Amino acid sequence: MKVCMDHPLHQELLARLERELEVLPDKPDETPRNTLDCLWALVAGHPLALSQVEAAELVELDRAGQERLRQLVASRLANMPLAHLTGRQDFMGLVLLASQAALVPRRETELLGWSVLAKIESTGAARPLVVDLCTGCGNLALAVAIHAPRASVWGSDVSPQAVELARENARFVGRPDVTFVAGDLAEPFDHPDFLGRVDVLICNPPYISSAKVDTMCAEIREHEPRLAFDGGPFGVQILLRLLKDAPRLLKPGGWLLFEVGLGQGGPMHKRLAGLPAFAEVESIRDVKGDIRVLAARRSAIAGVDRPA
Ligand SMILES: C[S@@+](CC[C@H](N)C(=O)[O-])C[C@H]1O[C@@H](n2cnc3c(N)ncnc32)[C@H](O)[C@@H]1O
Repeated sequence: MKVCMDHPLHQELLARLERELEVLPDKPDETPRNTLDCLWALVAGHPLALSQVEAAELVELDRAGQERLRQLVASRLANMPLAHLTGRQDFMGLVLLASQAALVPRRETELLGWSVLAKIESTGAARPLVVDLCTGCGNLALAVAIHAPRASVWGSDVSPQAVELARENARFVGRPDVTFVAGDLAEPFDHPDFLGRVDVLICNPPYISSAKVDTMCAEIREHEPRLAFDGGPFGVQILLRLLKDAPRLLKPGGWLLFEVGLGQGGPMHKRLAGLPAFAEVESIRDVKGDIRVLAARRSAIAGVDRPA
């Protein structure tokens, strides 16, 4: 039997979620209704991402299933991220596996992903080499691999758990050729196959100050890896290392693209513009007008490639 909206359990749990669910601004797709439907589908044996649930038909649950659903709703209201309950998350049109092993990909990071695709297109390379540092669950690397199928894509993360999840995601989306390796920032690519050969270097690093991470809401602080957020005392520790390491990897004319936190865009643009290793710097703004992505083109002129 299919469940309709006036099913008593659906009505009861929907009313509870409407009263109590707090949706975080960086997970804007979640509503009480689609949260409930995702959890319902999960109990029925169909783990779905939010983008998939509208088309799904919810089936009647037996008594044990109804109890399990109540528990899941309670867990969500106790700040467990929906993606951790369902094990699924949308990103740039892909459905990915999600878990506590890595950051749940955010909608806002799609700005970086789409900007990367535009730059890949602009390089005109027949088989562009793309490297994604701080890859987490592999969302950016895999979105590039799916949307730019000619690219040869690699990803890395310092967290072995994140790398394992990224590898699972590569199989899950049908791109097992995307290679994920563990290591500290650019170190895994310190090899002649990569040095001076990368067309597009991507990074969504941790960029929140250590003190601020301690004050983040419970849904993030208690469930997602601190490593994914903590950018050191001023939030820019990894960002500054990235600016230093990127020129060695990029080929002349290649692009570095990375995400920044609110308020970091202006100062980072200035810093990049002062580095001789980069010839061109672009600030990319979100719909609210905030700079959230920076793009910098590696200088093509010999002799200006000394690091910062
Ligand atoms: C903000 S998350 C980004 C995850 C994913 N790329 C995304 O866009 O959703 C930052 C990631 O950087 C990783 N990380 C932190 N420090 C690192 C380092 N020194 N070297 C490599 N990765 C690091 C974390 O493990 C985490 O997966």
